[in-house]
Amino acid sequence: MFDVKSVRKDFPALRSQDIVYLDNAATSFTPEPVTDELIDYYHRNGTSVHRGIYKRAEETTRKLEKSREKTADFIGADSSREIVFTKNCTESLNLLAYSFHHWSEKRGKILVTEMDHHSNILPWKIMAKGSDRFELEFVDVTRNGRIDMEDYENKLSPDTVAVAFPGVSNVIGAYNQVKELTKLAHDNHTLVIVDGAQWLPHRKFDIPEYDVDFLTFSAHKMLGPTGLGILYGREDLLERMPPPFGGGEMVRSTTKEETTWNDVPQKFEAGTPPIAQIIAFGAALDYLNELGLSAVKKHVDSLTEKAINLLSKIQGVEIYGPKEGEDRGGLVSFNLKGVHPHDLAASLDSIDNIAIRAGLHCAQPLHEAMELNATSRASFYVYNEEGEIDRLARAIREARKIFGGEK
Ligand SMILES: Cc1ncc(COP(=O)(O)O)c(C=O)c1O
Repeated sequence: MFDVKSVRKDFPALRSQDIVYLDNAATSFTPEPVTDELIDYYHRNGTSVHRGIYKRAEETTRKLEKSREKTADFIGADSSREIVFTKNCTESLNLLAYSFHHWSEKRGKILVTEMDHHSNILPWKIMAKGSDRFELEFVDVTRNGRIDMEDYENKLSPDTVAVAFPGVSNVIGAYNQVKELTKLAHDNHTLVIVDGAQWLPHRKFDIPEYDVDFLTFSAHKMLGPTGLGILYGREDLLERMPPPFGGGEMVRSTTKEETTWNDVPQKFEAGTPPIAQIIAFGAALDYLNELGLSAVKKHVDSLTEKAINLLSKIQGVEIYGPKEGEDRGGLVSFNLKGVHPHDLAASLDSIDNIAIRAGLHCAQPLHEAMELNATSRASFYVYNEEGEIDRLARAIREARKIFGGEK
């Protein structure tokens, strides 16, 4: 049984102010066991990793590598060597695009989708622009907010080097058909990169089950600290990829002339890593495992269903993406007719301390494809309660009156 009242007690950010926090797809709040780890590191340890030959530094290294193992276990990776720590999901995708450029012997197309976040479009765009070997192509999105499978199959050709798509769109909120998309790509000898930023916080992503080649996500969207991203890569691929950043830790030996790289994953982690964040992320994973991801998904699904239900009854509200179903993620994007999303978000904040997101959500090509200037987005997580969805619906009705929607 998911006890949201007791979950809420673990989150200091909920105590400081009455806030209906519905911007979880941007970043989540952090529970006390995670902030405890951060404080513990700074108050009780404070040393660097992988270098010191004294007990305290050895403890830091052990804890950091333990978090790497927990991350590998969380996604069912074969080995913690397949887990690279970065600054955020965006950096993980940039790292991949850079390395691809310098490593792939194949030339041709990189396929992304219209529903991708800018983080999974711009690294590939920058890479393709600086190269005469690659070009970028977009797969269409259907009117009901799905990756257009027919268009995807048509665009997959023998010269498609890689496909990159989101597990869940941060605007439409639908889970994509990762298995089908991956199988089609692999049958075509094409590598698969999944941006898991919006999937991992809510639902198990088991690498053996989905069989993707690369997966990226951010700690701060799943109860972890800011400043930490994760790149999962198949070990044989990581072995072959060149490192994008040079510096300490990523090198085994270097003279003025010759350099040999460190083993994976250290080859990709130049310089001192975000030590406290990595250690604290282990506590975030423990917390999520304790709640159970399937219970988390069930809880978030029921909030999403309630939100869709209540919002669709408000005159003038249009909801985007699939309205229901198993594969609906934990966010709802919508518009209130005649009210700009920025105005709506500001008024929900002043009416009842309700925090939602408004704008393009770093997904301009998707808004263009849906012929929308902007949207409002409410996104849910472990500490949100049913009553907050009622408050959201009430405040939208109130805003509608303020903006002259009700005569
Ligand atoms: C689908 C998706 N991909 C990537 C990102 C980028 O995450 P970050 O800003 O943590 O790098 C986000 C953030 O909102 C996202 O929603």
